[in-house]
Amino acid sequence: MKKKITSYLMFVLILSVGVITSCTKVGPAGPAGKDGTNGTNGTNGTDGTAGCIKCHDNSQTILAKSLQWEASVHATGGDFERNTKTCAPCHTSQGFLETVENTPSGGERPDTTAATIEDPAPQNCYTCHEIHQTYTPADWTNTTTAPVKLWISGKTVDFGKGNLCANCHQPRVPNPLPVVGGDSVTVTSPYWGVHHGPQAGILAGSGGYEIGSGYSNSFHTTVVTNGCVTCHMAEPFGTQAGGHQMGMTYLYHGHEKINTAGCITCHPSGLDAKIAATQTEVLDLLAQLKTLLVNHGAMSASGRIITGKMSANVAGALLNYNMVEADGSEGVHNADYVKTLLNNSIQALGSK
Ligand code: HEC
Ligand code: HEC
Ligand code: HEC
Ligand code: HEC
Ligand code: HEC
Ligand code: HEC
Repeated sequence: MKKKITSYLMFVLILSVGVITSCTKVGPAGPAGKDGTNGTNGTNGTDGTAGCIKCHDNSQTILAKSLQWEASVHATGGDFERNTKTCAPCHTSQGFLETVENTPSGGERPDTTAATIEDPAPQNCYTCHEIHQTYTPADWTNTTTAPVKLWISGKTVDFGKGNLCANCHQPRVPNPLPVVGGDSVTVTSPYWGVHHGPQAGILAGSGGYEIGSGYSNSFHTTVVTNGCVTCHMAEPFGTQAGGHQMGMTYLYHGHEKINTAGCITCHPSGLDAKIAATQTEVLDLLAQLKTLLVNHGAMSASGRIITGKMSANVAGALLNYNMVEADGSEGVHNADYVKTLLNNSIQALGSK
């Protein structure tokens, strides 16, 4: 009997606890707590997205620059598959950043990466800007603006903002490298030469096979303070030229025109005639030199190098031909230097 009463009381007790609990009323809300510490977007200690929206806003700036970049050879060239150690410093974004990081102050950028670059990317926003490092507009800073010590000559060139470009658009060092007055050399590869992008050497007037005398530079070498950037990244013509497309020419009613937006402050008039005169003269000198190189058995009629042993002057003339041709400006970058290189090479081969 006693046991029965106890379990009955226990039952009532459990039941009433349950009922009391479920019937508890919620009191009025207390005062709001204090704001927590702001979340930060990394290193700058501001609200999470305050830095982001300075760039990722509705200004369409990133879109406009991206459209130009997408139309550039940097995006379309496709040669970033050249990702092995000796090609990656210029052909891959990651290899470029690695070698810039490893450049000693005032010294030469390494001409190889430590290893093949896996998952290579072409030259893009992250290659040239410090995107997503502080997550503020300060990240538009270019990844390098330091003067560049050219691999081929050891000369340090300073093109301001154009130094960024000069790192990659510089002559590669041909192996073997002919020396003025030096021994014959044996060229073993039809691809021998300064490679496809020697523009910084041409603009600076450095790196050619400087036979003979009379070398000087055109005004462009010193007066165009941001070098490549002044002319190639001037006010764009749509996505065809200028800005982040970086090319110099566009089609206008079917005619190729040069984007002169970066030239006009210095050349308010008469520019087309000046360009035509320079390019006609340089193309003519290139043709003359080619004929001589073919006669010397160093080049085929189609312009391909014929490998073998050759005098330093013949190899040097080949180097100069290759350098001026690959430069792509047909003398505009540095007319004086280019004309002297070609004239002196012609004289050296003609008199042999
Ligand atoms: C200096 C300007 C700038 C700032 C500040 C910035 N971004 Fe970007 N962001 C870029 C650029 C440039 C790209 C690459 C553009 C593209 O690929 O369309 C990019 C790309 C991105 C992408 C696309 C994926 C990727 O990584 O390519 C995301 C997502 C992004 N940003 C988020 C953020 C966030 C979140 C913040 C702030 C924490 C931020 N960004 C701050 C400029 C900026
Ligand atoms: C990381 C190396 C690198 C940097 C930095 C760089 N370029 Fe380039 N550039 C290249 C390579 C490589 C190509 C060819 C791309 C390909 O074929 O895939 C190229 C192509 C070009 C072309 C097109 C050439 C043609 O044949 O039509 C122009 C113009 C150009 N770059 C200008 C510039 C300018 C101006 C800068 C500086 C603002 C610059 N580049 C910075 C490596 C670079
Ligand atoms: C100093 C930087 C640099 C290095 C190193 C370099 N390249 Fe290039 N390369 C360039 C530039 C710049 C261009 C684009 C030139 C232009 O179009 O005006 C280019 C263009 C090319 C092209 C396209 C040629 C064409 O006619 O369209 C190929 C292919 C190429 N490189 C292969 C290589 C290979 C393979 C290596 C390694 C053995 C290499 N490059 C190393 C800078 C470099
Ligand atoms: C080959 C190098 C290169 C690449 C790739 C590149 N930029 Fe630039 N960018 C530059 C240089 C150099 C300047 C400075 C131009 C000037 O001062 O005239 C610049 C300027 C800018 C500016 C103006 C910055 C400011 O301080 O006002 C913006 C915005 C910009 N770039 C966005 C981009 C975006 C977005 C991408 C990718 C789609 C990109 N850039 C890719 C070289 C590059
Ligand atoms: C004084 C203005 C000027 C400067 C400075 C300059 N360029 Fe050019 N560049 C030109 C012109 C003009 C052409 C020839 C366009 C044509 O006739 O096709 C050209 C041609 C080129 C080409 C051939 C492909 C193309 O876009 O036509 C490349 C690549 C190039 N320049 C890269 C550079 C680099 C890299 C630098 C800096 C080292 C530089 N340029 C400096 C004006 C300039
Ligand atoms: C900062 C000033 C400056 C800029 C920018 C500039 N030039 Fe020049 N350029 C000169 C000077 C100075 C001369 C020598 C006097 C003359 O012939 O007008 C010159 C000469 C020339 C010559 C004659 C050959 C030579 O070098 O003596 C050509 C061709 C030329 N420039 C084309 C261009 C083109 C094309 C652009 C733009 C893509 C350009 N320049 C941008 C200052 C400049």
